Amino acid sequence: MTVDERIEIRRLEGAELDAQLDNLAAVLADCVAGGASVSFMAPFPHEEARAAFEAVALEVDQGRRLLLAAFAGGEVVGTVQVILALPPNQPHRGEVAKLLVRRSARKRGIGQLLMERAETEARAAGKSLLVLDTASGDAERLYERLGWTRVGVVPGFALYPDGRRCDTTFFWKAL
Ligand SMILES: CC(C)(COP(=O)(O)OP(=O)(O)OC[C@H]1O[C@@H](n2cnc3c(N)ncnc32)[C@H](O)[C@@H]1OP(=O)(O)O)[C@@H](O)C(=O)NCCC(=O)NCCS
Repeated sequence: MTVDERIEIRRLEGAELDAQLDNLAAVLADCVAGGASVSFMAPFPHEEARAAFEAVALEVDQGRRLLLAAFAGGEVVGTVQVILALPPNQPHRGEVAKLLVRRSARKRGIGQLLMERAETEARAAGKSLLVLDTASGDAERLYERLGWTRVGVVPGFALYPDGRRCDTTFFWKAL
């Protein structure tokens, strides 16, 4: 990516989301290949990454989740989701999930743009409280910059793709 490539954040659904499933899967696979603890283990074939986004697309169709994609020069380079469907006693709450930026596009502000838009979309969907968890130090700094409150760390909560355990930090933000 060159510096003059404009970043566009778009909310994807329906046919537009279906058309981007392989590109979203490629971003997820790149992050897992880079060692990110984002639910999946190595080796992580493209078909499994695509299947993960097919399941997400179903929830988007049902209005249970929203998905944003970051485009640079027309290519998908990042994505994030907000889970909207939570138990009946938590209608005001959403969960941010799978903030992913492909390695070649990092440290250009794309993660921040995705998070800012995710918060805007969550607010528009009627949410007044968001939570998330992360095993990434890069992500932790990003969330703190954006005003998220760090709750604490659960040691050994998840695994890295290579099987090592990793700590996970929980955050919340009132919208
Ligand atoms: C966490 C993640 C999404 C951040 O994405 P990103 O696009 O690199 O995020 P940003 O560019 O907004 O911020 C990253 C850094 O780049 C810096 N930056 C932003 N724009 C910049 C620019 N134009 N020039 C130089 N640096 C810049 C930021 O200040 C920040 O600095 P820091 O590392 O000192 O905190 C990305 O690292 C990732 O996908 N990681 C793997 C997946 C993962 O673990 N996700 C978290 C799941 S909760």
